[in-house]
Amino acid sequence: MKVYIETYGCQMNEYDTELAVSLLEMHGYEVISVPEEADIALLNTCSVRENANRKVLARVHDLRHKANNGDLVIGILGCMATDYQEKLIDNIRLPINFIAGPDSYRRLPELIDQCLHFQNRLMDVTLSKTETYDGVVPVRTSGVNAWIAVMRGCNNFCSFCVVPYTRGRERSRSVQSVVDETRRIVRDGYPQVTLLGQNVNSYRHEDHDFAGLLEAVSAVDGIERIRFTSPHPKDFPDPLIRVMADHPKICKHIHLPLQAGNSRILELMRRTYTKEDYLRLVDKIRSHIPDVVLSTDIIVGFPTETDQEFKDTVDVVNKVRFDSAFIFKYSERDGTLAQKHFTDDVPEEVKTERIVTLNELQKSISLHKNRAHIGQVHDVLIEADSTKKSDKDIQGRNDGNKLVILPKKHHNIGDFVRAKITDASAHVLRGVVKNSDETRL
Ligand code: 5AD
Ligand code: SF4
Repeated sequence: MKVYIETYGCQMNEYDTELAVSLLEMHGYEVISVPEEADIALLNTCSVRENANRKVLARVHDLRHKANNGDLVIGILGCMATDYQEKLIDNIRLPINFIAGPDSYRRLPELIDQCLHFQNRLMDVTLSKTETYDGVVPVRTSGVNAWIAVMRGCNNFCSFCVVPYTRGRERSRSVQSVVDETRRIVRDGYPQVTLLGQNVNSYRHEDHDFAGLLEAVSAVDGIERIRFTSPHPKDFPDPLIRVMADHPKICKHIHLPLQAGNSRILELMRRTYTKEDYLRLVDKIRSHIPDVVLSTDIIVGFPTETDQEFKDTVDVVNKVRFDSAFIFKYSERDGTLAQKHFTDDVPEEVKTERIVTLNELQKSISLHKNRAHIGQVHDVLIEADSTKKSDKDIQGRNDGNKLVILPKKHHNIGDFVRAKITDASAHVLRGVVKNSDETRL
């Protein structure tokens, strides 16, 4: 039986797809990359904003329409499964056979098997307090980066966010199991590991916190780069900053979601920090790690956000000068605290105005910061042939996670090169390899 999987949304979903592939292959399914040949099509979905859902629903109809196999089994995995549950299962116009939430992937082979033999629609959206998929070795597809989910779920209940409902409560893997998996990754030839969690720095297992985990992973022989995403500003104590500053293998990039720059809105969002707390944290991080690259997530048009309050977000962006930012319009999600307590009252045009203002500001800051790298020499880990413009180029990332485009020579994916930065746009750096024999290793 041939299975085709598409992944939407965050890195955790990419990782979950690798777990699902592993569980399916163990049960004799063959995973293929074209839907036309498939007996089973799975969509690993995201529910964080409304437009993610729309895309998936359109795709389900598209797959059914295009399928060569009239009996194609279609399954919805991930956050939409837990978010919509009966709404998906009871919608008879939706051509799906089963849904499975993020904690149900061990049951995938069984669910598919039942769908193949019986006609009824199935669902398993049970959320677990303990499932970490410990012991399931993901089938990794990326050449240079290996993901490890070190914790799953979220206990924060930020008022706009559906994740605590779709992925359940926080649970962490043991330090030993993360270290063992990092060793396996090194043996398999991966130079980089990215530790994942919805709220990665609230990792806690027995007496170990996230700083301890990072330290243990840094001590694994042969790992070259360690990244993590996404942390919450509330869990950034001094020891974590010190571990990052002290360990050269931990990349000096922090994706630190701001969400809003106004303290009243932050309180309504239940983020547990104020504008001033956030700015103080950034100052502290920069005083210990001067070259740190900072990126962020921002939501504009949260209910009741005034123009004046939005200016606080602009002010934080001006003060912090993030290297990059993902900026979203507030999207009301059923069941969240914000949906229960507030009306989505910021008009669409105002949300658009605010997102345009911030994107323009951020673009000019990113350009300025990227241009400041011109003339510097960066260690670049080659990731792939360039997806930009020309097949004469390759692309990789520097320590700060910035994309660097280089002319293609005789480098291989997975090589470290020293590159002199020669040009920059708001989104990428361009460089030349200083000396192709001169690698960092
Ligand atoms: N509306 C808009 N953006 C959201 N995010 C999460 N929930 C919502 C929502 N309801 C954004 C946050 C988060 C990122 C992954 O998605 O900025 O950090
Ligand atoms: Fe959502 Fe907040 Fe949890 Fe992040 S920390 S997943 S934004 S509830």
